[in-house]
Amino acid sequence: MVSYKELGLVNTKDMFAKAIKGGYAIPAYNFNNMEQMQAIIQACVETKSPVILQVSKGARQYANGILLRNMAKGAVEYAHELGCDIPIVLHLDHGPNFEVAKDCIDNGFSSVMIDGSALPYDENVALTKKVCDYAHEHDVTVEGELGVLGGVEDDVAAEESKYTKPEEVQDFVSKTGVDSLAISIGTSHGRCKFTPAQCTRTADGILVPPPLAFDVLEGVEKMIPGFPIVLHGSSSVPVEYVKMIEQFGGKIPDSVGIPEEQLRKAAKSAVCKINIDSDGRLAMTAMIRKVFAEHPDEFDPRKYLGPARDELKKMYARKNIEVLGSAGHALD
Ligand code: G3H
Ligand code: 13P
Ligand code: ZN
Repeated sequence: MVSYKELGLVNTKDMFAKAIKGGYAIPAYNFNNMEQMQAIIQACVETKSPVILQVSKGARQYANGILLRNMAKGAVEYAHELGCDIPIVLHLDHGPNFEVAKDCIDNGFSSVMIDGSALPYDENVALTKKVCDYAHEHDVTVEGELGVLGGVEDDVAAEESKYTKPEEVQDFVSKTGVDSLAISIGTSHGRCKFTPAQCTRTADGILVPPPLAFDVLEGVEKMIPGFPIVLHGSSSVPVEYVKMIEQFGGKIPDSVGIPEEQLRKAAKSAVCKINIDSDGRLAMTAMIRKVFAEHPDEFDPRKYLGPARDELKKMYARKNIEVLGSAGHALD
């Protein structure tokens, strides 16, 4: 058993309480490799933001649990060396079952998500409670989910989203003991968050998505006032990266994300954790394609992963300042 406390990590409890009070959201950035980790920590230290490092089931398979844990431990020391002891959470993203959640709790994670959103309600309650009971014995916090997002959640593909039902949330929270709740209000995973048919188009052909269901968010907040809410699928799919990828040979048609001003609005409410993965993938891919196109003779991975990491850092720093509002809150 390795406790996250030995690694210098924290759980989400204080972080979320401060975020709700302060009207901002904590960035939850996914990582699988060293360059992503460097970019996240550099950006969050520079902007003095607390941060949640997220690891999906796929990331654990890709990168190895022991390496990931030691990278998170290294992240704590790296932040210190860079000059700011920002609070860092190591979080399991979309935990698929009790066994994976337990394995993470036993191996240095300070927070886990158990994603029972595809299960019938009573089964979601039972599974989430089982994870909460075990996690809380170890002072690990738990995120549950109610409602179904469109797009792809690891192995779970949902054809269309089903908004969270506000009338269910109070019962779910009290029966499970969960510490935060992911809800569905129209966000979805990946780079195509809506079909072109669901969007309108600007004169220059850019897709404009329908607005998020803020009425559902308000309904949820009324039922569980002050309870920490999480938004998944919150990449904004920046047009400049989509264009750059296509300019340098990529093909990613119909890309459309969540407009940043809507995320900013959500961050001012009880939404205190916003998940961003796809935007990081787009930023890195855009820069790597650019380097390859402009320097076809380059074959040193540091020469393309380095610029990709720097672009990623720039993007995360901007998000912390302009979207999440978490900048400056590391030492609250
Ligand atoms: O919600 C899904 C995250 O973006 C993780 O994606 O399962 O491909 O690592 P992944
Ligand atoms: P995006 O695909 O919008 O980045 O969402 C990431 C996410 O929700 C991870 O859990
Ligand atoms: Zn997600």
